[in-house]
Amino acid sequence: MSIEITANDAVATRGHWSNRWAFILVMAGSAVGLGNIWRFPYMTGSNGGSAFVLVYLACLLAVGFSLLVAEIMLGRRARANSVTSFARVAHESGAHPLWGKVGWLSIVSVFCIFSFYTVVAGWVMEYTMRAAVGFAGITAEQASSGFKTLLSSPDILIFWHTVFVLMTGGVVIFGVTKGIERANCFMMPALFLILVSMLAYTMFSADLPAAFNFMFRFDIEKINQSVILSALGQAFFTLSVGNGTMIVYGSYLKSETAIPRTSLYVVAADTLIAIMAGLVIFAIVFAQGLKPDFGPGLLLGTLPLAFSTMPGGHLLGFSFFILVVFAAWTSSISMLEPLAALLIERFQFSRKKAVISICFCVWLVGIAACLSFNHWQDVTLFGLGAFDLLDSLSGKILMPLSGFLIAIFCGWIVKREVVRSELRLGDTAYFAWEWTIRIIAPIAILAIGINALQ
Ligand code: TRP
Repeated sequence: MSIEITANDAVATRGHWSNRWAFILVMAGSAVGLGNIWRFPYMTGSNGGSAFVLVYLACLLAVGFSLLVAEIMLGRRARANSVTSFARVAHESGAHPLWGKVGWLSIVSVFCIFSFYTVVAGWVMEYTMRAAVGFAGITAEQASSGFKTLLSSPDILIFWHTVFVLMTGGVVIFGVTKGIERANCFMMPALFLILVSMLAYTMFSADLPAAFNFMFRFDIEKINQSVILSALGQAFFTLSVGNGTMIVYGSYLKSETAIPRTSLYVVAADTLIAIMAGLVIFAIVFAQGLKPDFGPGLLLGTLPLAFSTMPGGHLLGFSFFILVVFAAWTSSISMLEPLAALLIERFQFSRKKAVISICFCVWLVGIAACLSFNHWQDVTLFGLGAFDLLDSLSGKILMPLSGFLIAIFCGWIVKREVVRSELRLGDTAYFAWEWTIRIIAPIAILAIGINALQ
């Protein structure tokens, strides 16, 4: 164990982000991904629309944001992978050594997510190819059966999953500043612009008012346990918190950067993109008379319909899918990085060997996820196939649990001076953050968790 290394030694020997904007960009790159464009709309559609959106926004503000700040702070303080970060900060604060083990939870969780994320990214890559050919004249039935055919073709699923794992490994092998920053710089703005133009299209040619109504009508009766638990899981997923990603990204952050303000930008950008994606998709869903509770196929089963009729749809569709692949890519990079940092720093792997070993394991588990849609449809554990199991285990159990422990750790265990010196907030802002992380976040997570167990 390398607790003896001081923060300054560590920063000299590890890579770090070149400046604050680079950091905002990589955080946004991690946060914005399939979670915004694929998962948020389908979760909203399957959980009653506005009820879900309302709880989701509340969870983002009350739990997600404060945890994001806490994770970055932990990483920057310890300058280490997520497991060692907990151990170091616990040691520094004289806490029980068991706190040092919390990081392992996040490692398991991010591994699960990584293994199914690459499969979904693979679907989008297949659709990028289909978009290159074009969706001219496609009907609603064809759009939905097109997606079902994809799920029943294991070879295509495994092929794209493999390509995507290789793409992710390729970037991470080159290390922090070189690989990740460069990959992030131009993709985000482009994705944003495409979403804006799609929104403009739906304003004229689809049912945007119905989408608004579905997502923002104040509809409290529909809120129930499952909606609340799903919304909490989605808030964690979309901000990449509860998985060590932000701890590791924070560990490459220079000491001068203001953590809370930077995090706020990221939460805002992430939410904006998710809401825009939701509006575009539901505007198309309602204009076509489709049902919003389509499940995980919502994005791919509906968007081709819009691209088939909109002016310039061929080019726009192709560009859109490429950008979603890029967004997924920067997110999956951020899942591989905490796993790689762990093997490199704790088990003395070379970066190359670490990346190759993890990618191989993720590739194997991902194949099980691909097969769970077809050949292994009947192989289930607790009634769930491999894909759903990975999603539920991480989203409903591991992420909330590790989020809860991070909140308790940063709110109650870590010495106040440490937190204050890292966050450098004014009194009021610090007070607000501290009470959120001490009281609001843990109680919210606990209440939601206990409710879900009943
Ligand atoms: N936030 C990303 C998205 O919305 C997914 C993601 C990236 C993630 N890194 C993560 C999720 C780490 C959980 C843990 O697509």
